Amino acid sequence: MTNISTFDFARVRADFPILSTTVRGKPLSYLDNGATSQKPASVIEAIDRYYRAENSNIHRGVHYLSEQATDAYESARAKVAHFIAAPESDEIIFVRGATEGINLVAHGFIETQLSEGDEILITHMEHHANIVPWQIAAEKTGAVLKVVPVNDAGELDLVAYSDLLSERTKLVALVHVSNALGTINPAKALIAEAHARDIPVLLDGCQSVPHMPVDVADLDCDFFVFSGHKVFGPTGIGVLWGKREWLERLPPYQSGGDMIERVDFEGTTYKGIPGKFEAGTPHIEGVIGLAAAIDYVNGLDRVGALAHEHALLLDATEKLSAVDGLRIIGTAQHKASILSFVINEIHPHDIGTFLDADGVAVRAGHHCTQPLLKRFGVPATARASFSFYNNFEDVDRLVAAVTKMQRFFG
Ligand code: ALA
Repeated sequence: MTNISTFDFARVRADFPILSTTVRGKPLSYLDNGATSQKPASVIEAIDRYYRAENSNIHRGVHYLSEQATDAYESARAKVAHFIAAPESDEIIFVRGATEGINLVAHGFIETQLSEGDEILITHMEHHANIVPWQIAAEKTGAVLKVVPVNDAGELDLVAYSDLLSERTKLVALVHVSNALGTINPAKALIAEAHARDIPVLLDGCQSVPHMPVDVADLDCDFFVFSGHKVFGPTGIGVLWGKREWLERLPPYQSGGDMIERVDFEGTTYKGIPGKFEAGTPHIEGVIGLAAAIDYVNGLDRVGALAHEHALLLDATEKLSAVDGLRIIGTAQHKASILSFVINEIHPHDIGTFLDADGVAVRAGHHCTQPLLKRFGVPATARASFSFYNNFEDVDRLVAAVTKMQRFFG
């Protein structure tokens, strides 16, 4: 495991095998970290080791390998709890990703919390994963979806937020850091305001966890979700954290093996949390990989990494702003290292393809935020998203490719 007391990006870069690869005959500048992060060798090795030496089903066996796998799985739960400062390991539910975490909560709210005329408050900058489950919840229960607007910089309208909270609001579902704009929302203050009216808050932490330390106890949200693959772990694994009293109140989301206490044809009783929400054989390999990713992140100087990412963002923002016809979408005062842009009439997919030819990987599209991009009058953007393992050369290669393309298209 890397242990870096002062941030040394050249050293951390070497921990990620894929970063030394070439694409289309060019060195790779991987700037699509918002979509998924790359994996350090320690994560790849942990998964390899699991299959070579520990593979077994968990919670079910009395044999050695099953004990090993169960210990690894349950100690990962404790590690995740510590990582986000959750008060109890049992409040950590392993899910497929943030999307499944939100769907689990939405399902529980449909079943037990929402009725006709109730309101669910989301924001204009939510990812589709934090819009569609609530639209379905509204359709099924007769509840109404309310949306907090954003200003031209891509910041939430805080006055409108206050005005939209009402005695009918049953939940606020809010993104911590916008995947499309990079905006860092003032989550703690927004949560406190909702709590002053006894309204619970779900926070989508997909883009905050990879960039900054998160303390759910300090934020005081009621639910928090993130995806493993965005925080240097494997795909197909994610985390829902919820306050015990909320998780106990919600019904099982899926049912079957391992979530029960006793099954009779006359009726079934369920385990308490977390088992109640983890039916079937879970993604054991994913959990083990996620634990290795957390070990890796814990070994970093996170303050140094964040400062490095911020310096990359500032450098890229300054240099790209000088390109003729380039418009940055998302200019909030507080931003994570995510930079969305459009250039004149050039379609973002063409931007992405042009940059790819020079080995620069960015995402082009609507970033699963169609309502947000509509708000900015664009159907799509090109998006560069930086991680701590990127360097200033990546920024320069991005700027050079964009400049070349701009000249090409005239
Ligand atoms: N939600 C991911 C992104 O922002 C996939 O790219």
